[in-house]
Amino acid sequence: MALELKVEGVSAGYGAVRALEGVSIHVKQGETVALLGTNGNGKSTLMKCLTGLVRPSAGKITLTLDGVSHDLIGKGPQEIVDMGVVMVAEGRRLFPKLTVEENLQLGAYRPAARMEREKNLEFCYETFPVLRERRRQLAGSMSGGQQQMVAIARALMSAPKLLLVDEPSVGLSPLLVSQTIEKIGELNRKFGLTVLMAEQNFHQTIKIAHRGYVLVHGEIAFESKDIAELENNEMVKNLYLGA
Ligand SMILES: Nc1ncnc2c1ncn2[C@@H]1O[C@H](COP(=O)(O)OP(=O)(O)OP(=O)(O)O)[C@@H](O)[C@H]1O
Ligand SMILES: [Mg+2]
Repeated sequence: MALELKVEGVSAGYGAVRALEGVSIHVKQGETVALLGTNGNGKSTLMKCLTGLVRPSAGKITLTLDGVSHDLIGKGPQEIVDMGVVMVAEGRRLFPKLTVEENLQLGAYRPAARMEREKNLEFCYETFPVLRERRRQLAGSMSGGQQQMVAIARALMSAPKLLLVDEPSVGLSPLLVSQTIEKIGELNRKFGLTVLMAEQNFHQTIKIAHRGYVLVHGEIAFESKDIAELENNEMVKNLYLGA
C-alpha cells in the first residue's frame, strides 16, 4: 500500500485572520514527519485543512493511495477519515462520562474499521496495556497521560493509514511526554504507520521524527531533509534551543 500526502501552496484563515500562507509539505509512506512551530503559528490550522475541518482559500492537498490521487479539498471530515487519514486532535477531546472502552468503540466509525473492531481493539490494548486494565474506568477520571493514550488508541480504532497527531505533549508532565512520544515512535517503527505530528517540544520530537518543517506566522520557514539539519539550523536553535 503506497501512500503520499502532498500539500501545495495552501493558504487558509478565519475571516480576516490569515493563518496559513502558501504552505507546501509532503509526507511519504512510512515516515514520521514533524510540524514544528510555537503557539499560534498555524499547526492546528494545517491539520484541520488536512482533515476537512477548515477549507483552504488556495492551494492543493492531494492524497495518493496505491497510485490513485485524491483531491482532499472539498471533501468532508467523514470522507477523509474513510480514506484512512485520522487525527488525534489537540486537547484529546474524549467523552469524559463514557468508559475508556466506550471511547475506543466510538473511534471505529469508518465502515472498513467497523468490521475489524475486535481486532483493532485488541491491537489498542496490546499497544497500551494500561487501557485494557482501565477499560471500564470513566475516561474523564484517567490521568492526563492516560487520556492522551486513549485519544491515540481511539484514532487507531479506525485503522489509519496516515495518523495526524496535534501536539500530543500539551498539558503532560515531562515523563508522560516522553512516554507518549515514544509510543508514537513505536507505532511507526513496529507497524510502519505513517505519522505527521505537530509539536512545540523540539527535544522530544527529534527523538522520533525523520525530518520536519518549521511553521512561522503561517509560512514554512524551514524544511529539513533529516534531523541533523533541523538541529543545526540557526532559526531552530533560536526558537527552541535557547541559542
Ligand atoms: N477558530 C478560529 N477563529 C479565528 N482565528 C483562529 C481560529 N483558530 C485559530 N485562529 C488563529 O489562527 C492562527 C493559527 O492558529 P493555530 O491554532 O493554527 O496555531 P497553532 O500553531 O496550532 O498554535 P498552538 O500551538 O497554540 O496550538 C492564530 O493566529 C489563531 O489565533
Ligand atoms: Mg494548535
